[in-house]
Amino acid sequence: MTHPTPSAPAATPTIVPREKLDFGLDGDIPRYWFGGDAFKSRYFDAMSTIFPEGERYFISCVRDFRDRITDPRLLADVRDFMRQEGQHGIVHSQYNDRLRSQGIDVDKLEAFQRHMMFEVVRKRFPAEMTLADTAAAEHLTATMASALCQDPKVLAQADPRMRAMYAWHAMEEMEHKAVAFDVLQKVAQVGYLRRTFALVLVTFGFNLNVLLTTRYMLKVDGYSRWQRARMFAKGLWWLCGAGGLYARMIPAYLRYFKPGFHPWESGVIDSYQVWLDTFNRTGDPLQAGEALQNLHARPAA
Ligand SMILES: [Fe+2]
Ligand SMILES: [Fe+2]
Repeated sequence: MTHPTPSAPAATPTIVPREKLDFGLDGDIPRYWFGGDAFKSRYFDAMSTIFPEGERYFISCVRDFRDRITDPRLLADVRDFMRQEGQHGIVHSQYNDRLRSQGIDVDKLEAFQRHMMFEVVRKRFPAEMTLADTAAAEHLTATMASALCQDPKVLAQADPRMRAMYAWHAMEEMEHKAVAFDVLQKVAQVGYLRRTFALVLVTFGFNLNVLLTTRYMLKVDGYSRWQRARMFAKGLWWLCGAGGLYARMIPAYLRYFKPGFHPWESGVIDSYQVWLDTFNRTGDPLQAGEALQNLHARPAA
C-alpha cells in the first residue's frame, strides 16, 4: 500500500495570546447587530453562548495529554493555545452578559453545555476520543474563520465592534489551528477513522446545538412559529446556498478526510497579515478589524 505524499507545509504564524482587549461590548450594540437581520444576529449569538464552555472543554481535552508531550515547541504551542482559548471564553462571556439583559437565559444554556461536555462526554468516553473531538472542532472553527474573514461581503453588514470581536477570534483560531491536531497525531497517536469520525459527530452536534439555540432566541424575541419558519428558510439559504457561509467552507472542510492531511498544508488567509500588522501597530482590535474591511473596500488597481 502506498502512503500519500504530504503536501509542503505552509508558513506557520506565531501563536500570540492577546489579553485584556476592549471591543466596546458594553456600548450601544443593537440587538440585531448583523445588518438588522434577526436570524443572522441570533445565529452568531447562539455560537457565542456555546463558546465559553466549549473553549473550556477544548482546553481540558488537550490538557489530558500535556504530561506526555516531550517536544518543547509543541509544549509551548499547547500553553499558548490554552491562553488564547481562555481569552476567547472571557470575551464571549462579556458579550453573553448583553444577551442576558435581552431576556436570553444564558445560565440555562451554559448549564446544558457544561452538563453535556463535562458530565456526559468527558466522563463516558476515552480521552483519545474527546481529543479527536477537539481537533475536529478546531478544524471546523479554523475553516469557518477563513470563510468569515476572506471575503469582505460576509461580515460587511455587521456592527464594527462585533466584526472586530469575530475577526480577532478568527485570526487566533487560524494561528493555533494545528495544536490539538499535533497532540492527536504525535502524542495520542489516534488513527484516521477515529479522527475523521469525530469531525462527522462534531459537525452534526455543533450545528444542531447552534440552530436549536437560534430558534430559542428568536422565540424569546417574540417571533411566532410561522415567522421563525420563514426566517429559518431564508437563513439556511444564507448559510448553505450559493456563496453562503457553509458553501464557502466546503472545500477546506473536506480536506480533513484526506489521508495524510495536516492543518498547515494550507496557510492562513491573505488578510491575516493586514490584521496582524494593524493590531501590532495600534494595539487596538477595533482598528485591526476595520483594516480588514478597508482592505477589501479598496478599489482594484
Ligand atoms: Fe476559540
Ligand atoms: Fe480554537
